[in-house]
Amino acid sequence: MEHEIADPVGTGRDRILITGAGGQLGRALQEEFAADGALALTRADWDVTLPPPDVQPELVLHAAAWTDVDGAEEDPQGAAAVNVGGTRHAAELGAPLVYYSTDYVFDGAKREPYVESDPPSPLSAYGRTKLHGEGAAGESAWIVRTSGLFGEHGGNFVKTMLRLAKERDEVSVVDDQRTSPTYVRHLAAATRELLDRPHGVWHLAAAGDCTWADFAEAIFEEAGVGVRVRRVSSTELGRPAARPAYSVLRSEKHAPELPHWRDGLRACLDRLR
Ligand SMILES: NC(=O)c1ccc[n+]([C@@H]2O[C@H](COP(=O)([O-])OP(=O)(O)OC[C@H]3O[C@@H](n4cnc5c(N)ncnc54)[C@H](OP(=O)(O)O)[C@@H]3O)[C@@H](O)[C@H]2O)c1
Repeated sequence: MEHEIADPVGTGRDRILITGAGGQLGRALQEEFAADGALALTRADWDVTLPPPDVQPELVLHAAAWTDVDGAEEDPQGAAAVNVGGTRHAAELGAPLVYYSTDYVFDGAKREPYVESDPPSPLSAYGRTKLHGEGAAGESAWIVRTSGLFGEHGGNFVKTMLRLAKERDEVSVVDDQRTSPTYVRHLAAATRELLDRPHGVWHLAAAGDCTWADFAEAIFEEAGVGVRVRRVSSTELGRPAARPAYSVLRSEKHAPELPHWRDGLRACLDRLR
């Protein structure tokens, strides 16, 4: 596991460890920090529910997580083992940590952008484990709340819509959940900028906001496929976990700014082509 890193992010730190390196954000972080020689650990390299490996990184980018929102309702303890216990283990490495949290720590009742000082009130087991994970990240951590991640790798909404477009003329998508779909490469770049800011909670999400139905229409439009979007309610879809009706994140403390979600979508589709 020993890994020499000559000159990392230009901040004088010389070792970066990325957890969850096989996930969509983990892959983007690997690309963003490739020139810094980051040590990228997939689940096979380190299952974060187990104690940490014997390495002394100077920065941990903790992207490993249980992200199955509906599955967490059935197995909240399994989700907590990863999202809380795994984060505690990542903090035990003793290095400053970037912990990725979620808009699902909010209940969506506010109906205007959530800022860092708004009180969390998660609706789902997943949201609760991610909120407890924020506490487990410790004092020397940047807590990055983000939303609706998508990218070229792994499973996500964009790739699901493109797959469905090959199979159907119409897809049903919820139109009563408003958020800011965020491109993982934009989040990875913003993470680098954040390292110059103080520890604490930061909201880092794409500019702009939309419902998932709006996002689906934009995906089909940008991809040039003629699929209709049937706008449905969350009740109609009937998924196990409750999700906030409104979870747009903005910063009240000058967080690094991300491009608009539609720019992220175009960049992602360009790379998928
Ligand atoms: N996806 C979103 O829309 C979204 C929104 C807001 C916040 N976030 C947060 O952003 C972060 C990154 O999410 P993502 O979208 O990149 O998720 P992802 O694609 O599901 O990646 C998560 C990675 O964590 C790994 N993992 C799961 N359990 C693990 C364990 N016990 N030990 C080590 N690795 C484990 C997964 O491995 P396997 O593939 O082998 O399971 C996967 O590679 C997470 O903290 C998530 O909560 C995500």
